[in-house]
Amino acid sequence: MLRSKLPHIGTTIFTVMSSLARELGAINLAQGFPDYDPPERLKELVNQHVAAGHNQYAHMAGVIELRQAIAAKLEASYARRVDAENEVTITLGATEAIFSAISALVHPGDEVILLDPSYDSYAPAVILAGGNPIHIPMRQPDFRIDWERVKDAVTPRLRMVMINTPHNPTGSIIRHEELNVLADILEPTNAFVLADEVYEHMVYDGAEHASILANDRLFERGIAVFSFGKSMHATGWRVGYAIAPPDITREIRRVHQFNTFSIAAPLQHAIADFLTETPEHNAGLHAFYQRKRDQFLAALEGSRFTWTPSEGTYFQLLDFSQIPRVSDVEFADRLIRDVKVASIPVSVFYAEQPRLSVVRFCFAKNDSTLEQAAERLRRM
Ligand SMILES: Cc1ncc(COP(=O)(O)O)c(C=O)c1O
Repeated sequence: MLRSKLPHIGTTIFTVMSSLARELGAINLAQGFPDYDPPERLKELVNQHVAAGHNQYAHMAGVIELRQAIAAKLEASYARRVDAENEVTITLGATEAIFSAISALVHPGDEVILLDPSYDSYAPAVILAGGNPIHIPMRQPDFRIDWERVKDAVTPRLRMVMINTPHNPTGSIIRHEELNVLADILEPTNAFVLADEVYEHMVYDGAEHASILANDRLFERGIAVFSFGKSMHATGWRVGYAIAPPDITREIRRVHQFNTFSIAAPLQHAIADFLTETPEHNAGLHAFYQRKRDQFLAALEGSRFTWTPSEGTYFQLLDFSQIPRVSDVEFADRLIRDVKVASIPVSVFYAEQPRLSVVRFCFAKNDSTLEQAAERLRRM
């Protein structure tokens, strides 16, 4: 009687690792969330808006003040003027933005190119829409995209290409020139590009985030998704947004209104005020996180791990090939049991798991947590 629509999907690795970390009392550098709070002023604003009576259904597309504040932020960041009425939709985190966009745009039999390792919500969303995920592995060991392979995978059934920059789990970034290559590849197609840009403000060493909003040819067929969970250190609030041209936005909202309908009203009002009052918050994020990355890596000097510093996101891959060879899944299991540090094996982000010798660590943690974790990792 019961026929699963996602028979091959178990509980996500993030939930598994976080539960194990709790059970074993391990330091959790596995799941991507900070162990510090959102800014005090933002918390104060949430309380104020609850007290002021912003407690009923928000507008389906999002509180207009928040949509306008986002439009102002995007213009400052990417020199694109988006229409707050028709091009901005507030969603339940980036996860819902991705899910609603795929549900709205992908039809049964359509192909969707995913670049592995890929964030774990992408393929299930494509499958539920009746689409076929076409998995293309990124190059190794630098985890860059092989655009020739993307070009070769284009068929008349291609409906969407999903990109993620800065990239979870590898910390690599896509450059502006690469977006132009993608625009050339998609020129003869009717395919959309869904760009997951939740780590837009976490790009390091002077590099610039290449948003599809700054690329006219991609934006006309594009959906860019963002997350206040990441930028406001508030992953539990579940507030994100999708930016797309009006015709695409109309379709996304058709799904969104019956999926989540609208998002927590006081949170939206508070974020709107905070963005307007404190534009410097976003501008400071790259320095804030680069310092954490550097502190974590400095504390790992003398260990048997090797690494290339993460170019973006709040994740760092560590290569364990100097430590007796096991798979990354086995290694992550050893780490959590032997030195009580939780990490995420990178192979789980692939449709066809390759043999890899890297695991992912989240450095969105207090200095003391990072020091303590690095001290344990040096024992491996
Ligand atoms: C690449 C990527 N996309 C999307 C999400 C989901 O974002 P949200 O928590 O806003 O739903 C995450 C969260 O870890 C992520 O890493």
